[in-house]
Amino acid sequence: MTVTDTRKLTVLALDRLADGVLGLSLADPAGLPLPAWTPGAHVDLHLGNGLIRQYSLCGDPAEQDRYRVAVLREPNGRGGSAWIHDHLTVGETLQVSAPRNNFALESSPALLLIAGGIGITPLLPMIAAAEAAGTDWRLLYGGRAGSSMAFRDELARHGERVTVVTEEESGLLDLDAALGEPLAGTLVYCCGPEGLLDAVAARTAGWPDAGASLRLERFHPKAAEGVEAGPDTAIEIELARTGRTVIVPADQSILDVLEDEGVDDCFSSCREGTCGTCETDVLGGEPDHRDSVLSPADRESGRTMLICVSRARTPRLVLDL
Ligand code: FES
Repeated sequence: MTVTDTRKLTVLALDRLADGVLGLSLADPAGLPLPAWTPGAHVDLHLGNGLIRQYSLCGDPAEQDRYRVAVLREPNGRGGSAWIHDHLTVGETLQVSAPRNNFALESSPALLLIAGGIGITPLLPMIAAAEAAGTDWRLLYGGRAGSSMAFRDELARHGERVTVVTEEESGLLDLDAALGEPLAGTLVYCCGPEGLLDAVAARTAGWPDAGASLRLERFHPKAAEGVEAGPDTAIEIELARTGRTVIVPADQSILDVLEDEGVDDCFSSCREGTCGTCETDVLGGEPDHRDSVLSPADRESGRTMLICVSRARTPRLVLDL
């Protein structure tokens, strides 16, 4: 089961990083060290309005006394970012999950990092790690306007490794130039709006071993692609820790039913297959993966599944719950 412990952290500082972007620093109220994390990790913030939202950690993993995140105000969002911008104050406490990483930085001789807007946040610690490891890296960072693009000043010190493109001055990132030819020995990491992720995925689709070269961080579910999901049918779920069996009807999610049944250790946040909070070990049966989190290798192994959206290809699943 994914680590879903939460702890109360105090808001140490709130900083305006760019137009519509607020930086938060969070620390243990007693000054205790925080759980370790690696570049690409995120935490869940349990907000005062009852919402739970995921934000990438954008500070330094060596800094064990605080977490840093950056929050873009999303005017058309569901109220999470607006609550943070409008109501959160320094000194307040929030429940914060342990860090989880669905976008881990893998070792590679070269890295091409592509960020759209607030998607820059998970890439910042990757840049620091790449620098420390002597990796040949480049960053393409696009946004609507310079004033809304956070961290530009600190990125400027990396000189030609960083290309910043603002839509109002130069249009969109030139992905054809960057990805037109397969980049041997290069891992591509991309985080940003869906349009950017889809554009990057489309341009690398023809690369040899494209799946092994590209890593995407999605904040919204991806459209179904590749393998067709099976039909929605009822599933028998055996809960291995108690031996109980529950039936999940065709029109309900596994998570909903297990919550209704009062099953312990069912955790959730996004409930749309993007955050990884509900990841559950599979001990028997074959999952029908419908999430946007698991890698092709994870899906293939069938050892774990996201029970908020995924279903089953076999009539019965045995879950480690
Ligand atoms: S609750 Fe977010 S992936 Fe299932």
